[in-house]
Amino acid sequence: VAADAARPVVSLGGEAGIGVLTEGYAFGQHRFTRYDVDAFRMRLLGRPTVFLRGIDAARFFYGPDRFDRTALVPRTVLHSLQDEGSVQTLAGAAHLERKAMFVETAGTLEAEEALTELFAERLDVEWRRRSGEQVSVLFLLSRTLTAVALDWLGLPYDEAALQARTQEFAAMIDGAGSFGPRNVYGRALRLRTERWALELVHRMRGGESVGGSLAAHVVARTHADDPVAAIELLNLLRPVVAVARFGMFAVLALHRQPDWRERLLTDDADGRAFAQEVRRTAPFFPLIGGTATRDLEWEGLHWNRGDRVIVDLFATNRSPRLWADPERFDPDRFARGEDDENIVAQGAGLMSEGHRCPGEPATVRLIEVIAREFAERRWSVPNQDLRVDLRRLPAQPGRQGVLVTLG
Ligand code: HEM
Repeated sequence: VAADAARPVVSLGGEAGIGVLTEGYAFGQHRFTRYDVDAFRMRLLGRPTVFLRGIDAARFFYGPDRFDRTALVPRTVLHSLQDEGSVQTLAGAAHLERKAMFVETAGTLEAEEALTELFAERLDVEWRRRSGEQVSVLFLLSRTLTAVALDWLGLPYDEAALQARTQEFAAMIDGAGSFGPRNVYGRALRLRTERWALELVHRMRGGESVGGSLAAHVVARTHADDPVAAIELLNLLRPVVAVARFGMFAVLALHRQPDWRERLLTDDADGRAFAQEVRRTAPFFPLIGGTATRDLEWEGLHWNRGDRVIVDLFATNRSPRLWADPERFDPDRFARGEDDENIVAQGAGLMSEGHRCPGEPATVRLIEVIAREFAERRWSVPNQDLRVDLRRLPAQPGRQGVLVTLG
């Protein structure tokens, strides 16, 4: 173990890529715990990389223009989730300008309210249609949220289009973490979605009124670049659908701790704490990484331009230095003074400057409304294996997520 000036770092042999494949989400956590450190060095895909855990590390990583995502994120993942020219690949003034567009559309109180209202209305329709049936919570929420996202942006669709978009968004999110068939499937469907979005952009630029004011804003703010406008429209739609994954874990938590059903219906403040605890504990984005854009120094660690870092979001959300009894699902921890700003599921730092997710406040509200809706309604959980396989990315309980019978 080599002790740097400020921060003990352990250097490990072996290839981290293999570890991530075999140990999944817990890869970093195993090593941070075994060596009792918040930093270790290891080769990743053959190149030296520093793995970090902790809120300070996350804030350092999310400082403006310190690390570039494009060189490190595997192309397959980039193509599933963030394309060339999109906000996540930009830096400097170009990033600030594009990011402002996302904060203005997704990061406002109006967005939170519109999304939650649309969700409650639409869930009612979808639930009624399937009353008495056994459904996958992930499917039910993905379909509902696809309709919500399209309505939110004022984009037209019929039943066939809703089915197509639900399938495409769900497959892209499901395929992002894998390199095999699930990824290929997600990317193939993505081409279909991109053609659809590009056609919408062309029609909007041609003066047709096919999108609401938010869609028009996106198209106006991406100037003349049609493919980028299409990608950014998808960057507002698809992540709304991704909230279905958190929603599924919220339903699982209600099933496991039924007393929370009652509390959600009686106490207003509890809803937010419950949603934040879902974001802290649900395995979703395990790691985020980048290469240094210039020489950087932080707490005794040094990066030359091009050197790599990985911030372990999963391990930070379960770090014993930040959370008491971290593996326990316990929304009351926030009332006892633990800080929900230390949750890094959607990044850290300043939303307006760095790459922190502009949809975070809306995500919290959506999880809250999903939990309340499920707390109010009647449903039962048929016998099934609900163990979460942490080697699958993204992780989910059982093989198809949680199955419920709707009342
Ligand atoms: C399931 C819920 C969500 C999760 C887990 C999530 C996760 C993340 C993470 C980890 C980042 C940071 C990526 C990086 O550091 O490079 C991010 C960025 C981003 N998210 Fe989300 N997000 C969610 C919901 C949303 C929603 C609802 C929206 C919009 C409606 C959204 C739009 C974006 C955009 C546009 C970025 C790129 C920001 C930038 O590069 O400056 N996300 N998200």
